[in-house]
Amino acid sequence: MSIPAFGLGTFRLQGQVVIDSVSTGLELGYRVIDTAQIYENEAEVGQAIAASGIAREELFITSKIWVANFAKDRLIDSLKESLNKLQTNYLDLTLIHWPSPEDQVPVEEFMGALLEAKQLGLTRQIGVSNFTVDLMQQAIAAIGAENIATHQIELHPYLQNRKVVEFAQSQGIQITSYMTLAYGEVLKDPLIQQIADRLQATPAQVTLAWAMQLGYAVIPSSTKRVNLQSNLLACTLTLSDADMALIAGLDRGQRLTSPKGIAPQWD
Ligand SMILES: NC(=O)c1ccc[n+]([C@@H]2O[C@H](COP(=O)([O-])OP(=O)(O)OC[C@H]3O[C@@H](n4cnc5c(N)ncnc54)[C@H](OP(=O)(O)O)[C@@H]3O)[C@@H](O)[C@H]2O)c1
Repeated sequence: MSIPAFGLGTFRLQGQVVIDSVSTGLELGYRVIDTAQIYENEAEVGQAIAASGIAREELFITSKIWVANFAKDRLIDSLKESLNKLQTNYLDLTLIHWPSPEDQVPVEEFMGALLEAKQLGLTRQIGVSNFTVDLMQQAIAAIGAENIATHQIELHPYLQNRKVVEFAQSQGIQITSYMTLAYGEVLKDPLIQQIADRLQATPAQVTLAWAMQLGYAVIPSSTKRVNLQSNLLACTLTLSDADMALIAGLDRGQRLTSPKGIAPQWD
């Protein structure tokens, strides 16, 4: 896998909260950090990474280009600004955060600029996020599936996103699940709680293990040391085929993220 299976999300976390979350995560052994230009926390993430003293090559840092920076004369400059804030000279992964609203910037323009950023060494890998199958097809037509390392999408037991997953996998594009815990929603699910009790695990560990066992990378976020620590243990939990099938049955197409004016017409 070119994308590490387990990382740390930073959406919504600001100021000292994000510094503490990333610092604690790094101290506990997290080495993969997911941020984005629009999160307005790249500088704090960079500060926490610098203070950790961990060697750059041990880390895997992802950021995402915001839709206002898609034009070909803007994308690379905006990525350089992200690098400055993150106090590094390359990202491991750079994603197109959302498709361009109303196709203001053509897919081939921003994918072309992103590929150029990779060729310039500003990012090791590139990918997309929140694309439909149609948009993925356009991205593939623009730069080739071999250049698209991952598709980061909302994916949790209540939104299993099978059509998009099947298409991405058929193209050799790895899925990254965001909001794997449905922002805490699925942790209250009776079936997930029951499986967790039986396995002497937490509902979060069961949910994260389910996603990783399906081959998806995960990037759960937490502001609490105890949760950061216990979530990591999902990497050592294995679910039976029967439990995997039970969780597969929880899909109800429940999407939590669909920002007006930005989200595409979903598959
Ligand atoms: N590409 C995109 O458009 C996009 C969109 C959304 C998110 N993302 C990325 O995906 C990451 C993950 O998504 P997310 O942060 O929105 O949601 P999430 O990881 O599904 O859920 C985070 C929530 O779950 C809670 N939580 C975490 N571990 C827990 C545990 N063991 N027990 C109980 N509660 C727990 C956290 O609360 P506590 O702080 O109290 O632990 C927090 O409220 C983001 O941080 C971001 O990096 C990307």
